[in-house]
Amino acid sequence: MDQSRADILASIAAEVRACKLCRLYQNTTNGVPGAGDPNAEIMFIGEGPGFHEDRQGLPFVGRSGDYLEKLLAMINLQRAQVFIANVVKHRPPENRDPLPDEMAACKPYLDKQVDVIDPLIIVTLGRFSMGRYFPGGKITQIHGKPKFDDRRAYYPLFHPAAVLRNPNLEKEMEADFKRLPEILAQVKALRAKSAPKPDSNQEPPPLPKQLSLF
Ligand code: URA
Repeated sequence: MDQSRADILASIAAEVRACKLCRLYQNTTNGVPGAGDPNAEIMFIGEGPGFHEDRQGLPFVGRSGDYLEKLLAMINLQRAQVFIANVVKHRPPENRDPLPDEMAACKPYLDKQVDVIDPLIIVTLGRFSMGRYFPGGKITQIHGKPKFDDRRAYYPLFHPAAVLRNPNLEKEMEADFKRLPEILAQVKALRAKSAPKPDSNQEPPPLPKQLSLF
């Protein structure tokens, strides 16, 4: 039977909450699978849960989350209209960087979320999610430069926490963010162009009965 996107995401979330594939679940309060609209056009991928995210089991609910909401409001979006996830789904101790084996253990969950949501844009927040789609990329050089494939755009942005730490980045972050609607329109045009034309692979329709008599 066809499972709805929301059902599949809920079962991924249940797996994440029970996950012991790496050490990160130890000493955490909650797994943080990700949250938002299962049909979101834009999916944000951050790094990993922090203190508040661990407490609430929700992504980006601390100061970085407040800033992300402010950025979303600039383009008339609310967090419930996008999907927000992280590269690792349990909080690293003392908010340290996630380790390669931890990101590898968590990868199938994120891959599956991306497949199910099939977003038009994946926005990477910070260097760990950027590394998934822009290996070797330097955030100071590539932020705000989208990369397109035949399904979507990948859009690397600074991590909101980095901007809060360094207010000099605010102008660039906001300018990058304001380009999201334009990139969305580009991907929609791309998908419309590559969508198969109705009936293009089908036999021509049979002749009407009267004509086939001749
Ligand atoms: N920073 C992240 O990368 N993810 C969160 O969920 C919160 C803060």
